[in-house]
Amino acid sequence: MIIVESIKEAKEIIREKKRRGLKIGFVPTMGCLHLGHISLIEKARKLSDYVVVSIFVNPTQFGPNEDYDKYPRTFEQDKIMCEIHNVSMIFHPSVQEMYPQNFSTFVEVTGQISQVLCGAKREGHFRGVATVVSKLFNIVEPDVAIFGQKDAQQAFIIKKMVKELDFPIEIVVSETVREEDGLAMSSRNNYLSKEERAIAPLIKKALDEAEEAFKKGETKAEILKKKVEQIINSSPLFKIDYVEIVDTENFNPVDEVSSESLLAVAAFLGKTRLIDNLILKK
Ligand code: PAF
Repeated sequence: MIIVESIKEAKEIIREKKRRGLKIGFVPTMGCLHLGHISLIEKARKLSDYVVVSIFVNPTQFGPNEDYDKYPRTFEQDKIMCEIHNVSMIFHPSVQEMYPQNFSTFVEVTGQISQVLCGAKREGHFRGVATVVSKLFNIVEPDVAIFGQKDAQQAFIIKKMVKELDFPIEIVVSETVREEDGLAMSSRNNYLSKEERAIAPLIKKALDEAEEAFKKGETKAEILKKKVEQIINSSPLFKIDYVEIVDTENFNPVDEVSSESLLAVAAFLGKTRLIDNLILKK
């Protein structure tokens, strides 16, 4: 496994691999790797010959009052995990390398998909994500890139961006990996106190109950959302940011779940913002 910090060097090495006919798999991350990331790496390994993992805490996707400064940075540990899982290259650029002075070109995500859920709550977040992912795609030139279903809106936005900006890349979305008690794995789970961690699985429990009700025939979004809210609000430690059901075709909120819909939740436990979701499909 090699570790590369410069864009020029990463491009040169990857181009040489491509000339030799190797298929490049890519897993973009912000580090603090956990089993969720490992499942993405494993998937990339199955689908390609040369796996690149980027580790870069991207400042442009954090709002001014968000956790950029305290976001966990665990590079030494990440390196070991990548080594064990046969990653070929870690791309680990500095902020200066990715965003040199006077950097001023961004990929703007517009339309309904950017205006609901996390797009409505985290101004500029998806602009930062689309910008850094575009840069990473241009540097790594992957044949296939893997994203997690936990960040469902991000995955939809990236798929749309790839189609609309003609990146010749296959996007694969891999299912959410969970702790034994159902909590979706996330680097941000590290922030939780013992007390917060103990009640964090309520989000998954709420999603499961909504799914159960949906399977039994309840299709009214208001009722399904209320069910989720009631369960999460059963702990006073939670503060719901949003509970929403949107059509996966156009991201419009739905009143009635008829076609494939995304039930998505964001909730604060103290200062930690957790997200989770599930797809409701007949
Ligand atoms: O999902 C993440 O970890 C980040 O949003 C990503 C895709 C690595 C871009 O910084």
